[in-house]
Amino acid sequence: MARVLVTRITFPEFIQELERRFEVEHNAEDRPWPKEELVRRLAGKQGVLSTVMDRFDESVIAAAPDLKAISNIAVGFNNIDLAAATKRGIRVTNTPGVLNDTTADFTWALLMAAARRVAEADAYVRAGKWKIAFGTEYFLGADIHHATLGMIGIGRIGQAIARRAAGFDMRVLYHDPQRLSPGDEKRLNATWVERDRLLAESDFVVVMVPYSKDTHHFIGAADFAKMKKSAIFVHTARGGVVDDAALVEALKSRRIAGAGVDVFEGEPALDSGYLGLGNVVLTPHIASASRATRLAMCRLAADNMALAIEGQRPPNLVNIELA
Ligand code: GLV
Repeated sequence: MARVLVTRITFPEFIQELERRFEVEHNAEDRPWPKEELVRRLAGKQGVLSTVMDRFDESVIAAAPDLKAISNIAVGFNNIDLAAATKRGIRVTNTPGVLNDTTADFTWALLMAAARRVAEADAYVRAGKWKIAFGTEYFLGADIHHATLGMIGIGRIGQAIARRAAGFDMRVLYHDPQRLSPGDEKRLNATWVERDRLLAESDFVVVMVPYSKDTHHFIGAADFAKMKKSAIFVHTARGGVVDDAALVEALKSRRIAGAGVDVFEGEPALDSGYLGLGNVVLTPHIASASRATRLAMCRLAADNMALAIEGQRPPNLVNIELA
């Protein structure tokens, strides 16, 4: 049996499934392994099931001579030095597809929570501040129905987000270097526009692009400056895609009305400016976190890893040079 490493604590039933297929060493504590420990435990392993917080840089990869597969339990893989892995012949895989709908659902949860001030109102009730039953001006928010949704990035998850706008009778604008086919534009009722027009006309702006050095601070102060003052911005993509300091400033100065943010630069540390703001809903990188989806991601990652260890092409191979 191939020897594999699981870097983070995960579902016991999944570990049992893995143990039928591999010789497994797994992290049984909710404590990420520091780099030296990861390197030590990688010794003699052919495969690793990793998460976005395990950094596979050149030195980690160089220190794991038996490794054939790095299988990320995530669609994003910016935690892995792809060039270094490819050079060493290590297949890298991710888990696209299975999380599209769950991530889209959660993006809407954040959008709606920010628009209708759900977190603020919840805190108000819990703090015992609700003294008068009803007020016509209590917690006024923004309407979602018949508003304009602007999608920056319309890949698999972006399309799932856009699809849900139909239920709210929304207009959908999108900007992406890769235009949708006319059939998909029709199906999503989405119109391609220049980025500046999208920023100027959207009531809700959602970014959904992968993180890479090309998308570092892809959304920043110049973009917030072009949005409506009433705009709500939602970020469930990847920490670093948005310039957090610029978003904090835009929210603080009321340049935009609100935001929902699930991913942060340097998470779990986050710009402390966020914490004092009432007009932002903050969540801890949980957009794909339904039980069914996280389990599906784990299982897909295991299948990818098994094939990669056998030297076959896994369905979700990222470094296709090694196909
Ligand atoms: C999680 O952040 C993922 O990339 O799937």
